[in-house]
Amino acid sequence: MLLTLRVQGARHWVKSTRCLASSAVPEKSPSSSPQLEVNGSTYATDGWTNVTPKILSYLGANKHLQTDHPLSIIRQRIVNYFYGAYRNQRGNPLFSVYDKLNPVVTVQQNFDNLLIPADHVSRQKSDCYYINQQQLLRAHTTAHQVELISGGLDNFLVVGEVYRRDEIDSTHYPVFHQADAVRLVTKDKLFERNPGLELFEETWSGSLADPKLILPSAKFMDQTKQPCHTLEAVKLMEHEMKHVLVGLTKDLFGPRIKYRWVDTYFPFTQPSWELEIYFKDNWLEVLGCGIMRHEILQRSGVHQSIGYAFGVGLERLAMVLFDIPDIRLFWSNDSGFLSQFSEKDLHNLPKYKPISHYPQCTNDMSFWLPEDIEVDAGFSPNDFYDLVRSVAGDMVEQISLVDKFKHPKTGKSSVCFRIVYRHMERTLTQAEVNEIHKQIASASVDSFNVQIR
Ligand code: DAH
Repeated sequence: MLLTLRVQGARHWVKSTRCLASSAVPEKSPSSSPQLEVNGSTYATDGWTNVTPKILSYLGANKHLQTDHPLSIIRQRIVNYFYGAYRNQRGNPLFSVYDKLNPVVTVQQNFDNLLIPADHVSRQKSDCYYINQQQLLRAHTTAHQVELISGGLDNFLVVGEVYRRDEIDSTHYPVFHQADAVRLVTKDKLFERNPGLELFEETWSGSLADPKLILPSAKFMDQTKQPCHTLEAVKLMEHEMKHVLVGLTKDLFGPRIKYRWVDTYFPFTQPSWELEIYFKDNWLEVLGCGIMRHEILQRSGVHQSIGYAFGVGLERLAMVLFDIPDIRLFWSNDSGFLSQFSEKDLHNLPKYKPISHYPQCTNDMSFWLPEDIEVDAGFSPNDFYDLVRSVAGDMVEQISLVDKFKHPKTGKSSVCFRIVYRHMERTLTQAEVNEIHKQIASASVDSFNVQIR
């Protein structure tokens, strides 16, 4: 569900307004830039490469691990809740936590392993930061599921930053943080009190190769169970998962928080839900979850368990819990911001007090696209947003496409973007803004072969 208060958290997997047009980022020829250094490793580049030096500069920032940072406080709250909710017979936490995994993943990890269809919009070059055709900066922390389950884990949390190309505004940033969890249980554990019940249908052969048993993506809202599972197993798992996730929500937002479950679709779970909370007169989606597709467990070598999984966006939680109005503040090193939060008392979350208000400065930029190129057909606005971000960094608060038209005689397309400049930490002068604006214009000419109007 799309809300007025839209803050990055989970992707909308069913509908996408994105086009399938090819990206207009100039393709680097192997001879001009054959290799890329990322996190100490060397990668080959190709026509898919679209990571920018600016984006690569975020690797290793680890805001979710920085002492007293609001994202780190939220991480600890989630981890502590899970440590408390599940303990083994000796009283030790059942869940293990992975919060330093390398964000460079393969297309197989980010998409194929999670049964994301080959033509799904989330794979587009205009939505992800690709290192090359095979590797990208993870677009969700769910990307690590199969490697961790294959390694023998059955209860784990993954926390880390994820990378997505998106519009720029106070609730969207190309890098944000997620926590994902997986819990697998065997028949003996799930039916401890009801021995004799089964996880899998008797009629099910144990093989999911039959295409009839693989959920076609078109049947996206199908909330029935997967054919392999028994209804009892799914219902018990659903009950446990919802109980734990409502518990987490109440732990974070207080026991009186109003919430609701909404049916949804994720390629990697069936059935699937979103949990929404009622906040400031709006229903706000806080997490996505579901019963894991059994193919994912089978791929990981697990045949006798059923699992649930969920994913949650940390910025979204932190913005609500601390009343932080702008997502860019999470990247601020201003002591006026950071000194407001302390992990000494994790249960006393202060409300953010704005440091100051600096004036906005709005400038428009119009250009003609090269012949035969149109918006979303050869030119993706996300490419322009990235260019602006690379040139102007956090001086830009918002960019929007305010106008586009096609000249009736020449057939050329024109676009107009509105760029709102505002620095979080100081007043920008008009001269300074004009200079940056000019740099963006000339970088656009160089990169996209456009003609400034
Ligand atoms: N990866 C999803 C996203 O970013 C969120 C999500 C949904 C994660 C359901 C899960 C899950 O593990 O089971 O949109």
